[in-house]
Amino acid sequence: MQLDASSDDDFARLAARLQDSPERIRIFYLSTSPDLFAGICQRLANSGLAQANSRVVLEKPLGRDLKSADEINACVESVFGENQIYRIDHYLGKEAVQNLLALRFGNSIFEPLWSHGKIRDVQITLAEQLGVEGRGEFYDSTGNLRDMVQNHLMQLLCIVAMEPPISMDADNVRDEKLKVIRSLEPFTPESVITNVVRGQYQSGSVDGAAVPGYLEEPGIAADSQTETFVALKARINNWRWSGVPFYLRTGKRMHKQVSEVVINFFGLPHSIFPQSMGTETTNRLYIRLQPQEAIELHLMAKQAGDENTLKPVKLDLDLAGLNERHLDAYERLLMDVARGNQTLFVRRDELNAAWQWVEPIMNTWQALGKAPDAYESGTPGPTAARELVVRDGREWV
Ligand code: BG6
Repeated sequence: MQLDASSDDDFARLAARLQDSPERIRIFYLSTSPDLFAGICQRLANSGLAQANSRVVLEKPLGRDLKSADEINACVESVFGENQIYRIDHYLGKEAVQNLLALRFGNSIFEPLWSHGKIRDVQITLAEQLGVEGRGEFYDSTGNLRDMVQNHLMQLLCIVAMEPPISMDADNVRDEKLKVIRSLEPFTPESVITNVVRGQYQSGSVDGAAVPGYLEEPGIAADSQTETFVALKARINNWRWSGVPFYLRTGKRMHKQVSEVVINFFGLPHSIFPQSMGTETTNRLYIRLQPQEAIELHLMAKQAGDENTLKPVKLDLDLAGLNERHLDAYERLLMDVARGNQTLFVRRDELNAAWQWVEPIMNTWQALGKAPDAYESGTPGPTAARELVVRDGREWV
């Protein structure tokens, strides 16, 4: 049935309709604007629908900043306990993310390699070819930082960087993710200017098709300064990650559709091979979420039959072939809600810490009032994003 989220009568009708099965576990999945979460939860309570075995799923972005997120959470928590609240981030339900956990914590060989001294840098890219796709009004008031960085990118970073949890129990995993977020070096206005790049797409062509610029999309203000691209350099100030840069980037209307984590290991301390055999010695681990979920380890090997060449070869864990049919991220997460497993959902303190980390970025942008860097649709983003890594002697993979 359709209902108006602000109508008490409509909630009474909903309650009447659900009356025949009061003992059922009910899941209320709120994929609405976060401004409506508190009111909906209150109406669920008033109409007797919020019961001890009910669960509520809250879509991201939850709020616009720390204060609004905290207010919404406080209202929701006046109706539902934290153990009934499932803050969803569908990236955590992706098969490759599950496999990254399996790779890290189901094998002993990676642990000694998983730290500073062995890893030179980590790159996380969530690049989309899509534009705002009819969601102009939502997107223009949200922007990429709130839509992708504060949640999906930060969650991926947590999974890469967290310490081994005691077990896969929800709170054990979430405690470890929270520690990562708390160890992130806080941004200052100066470091936002040097370490965060903000972009907005212009017209161009993606896969040979002409596409309009962001400002020409329906529902977008003609003078909008909303960002559709963010690249940033983060540091995690703890024992494991000291000195290892984490480069993150995400954008719309880029040249490729690709979501992946790349772990770049340090090169050889000394090569015994002549330069002529090939100089690339970087071992890389790719955890690819999209378009094809895969995990690949790139190693150097001698090219068969050729005496004189070393070439990177892939050890390939083809996840698509491994599972006959795997669950879509949302299917998996909604099943977890039904089963009452909160491991892959975001706890309130984790969410607050994530907002706290991105807030100086939002505040600095607002204070500067500067338009985002323009980039042509169908390209890898603004040139400043490339400079962000090139000045550290690196390249985006
Ligand atoms: C959503 C964002 O959370 O994630 C969208 O609101 C984005 O803007 C989408 O397009 C990307 O998800 P996926 O699974 O297609 O990478």
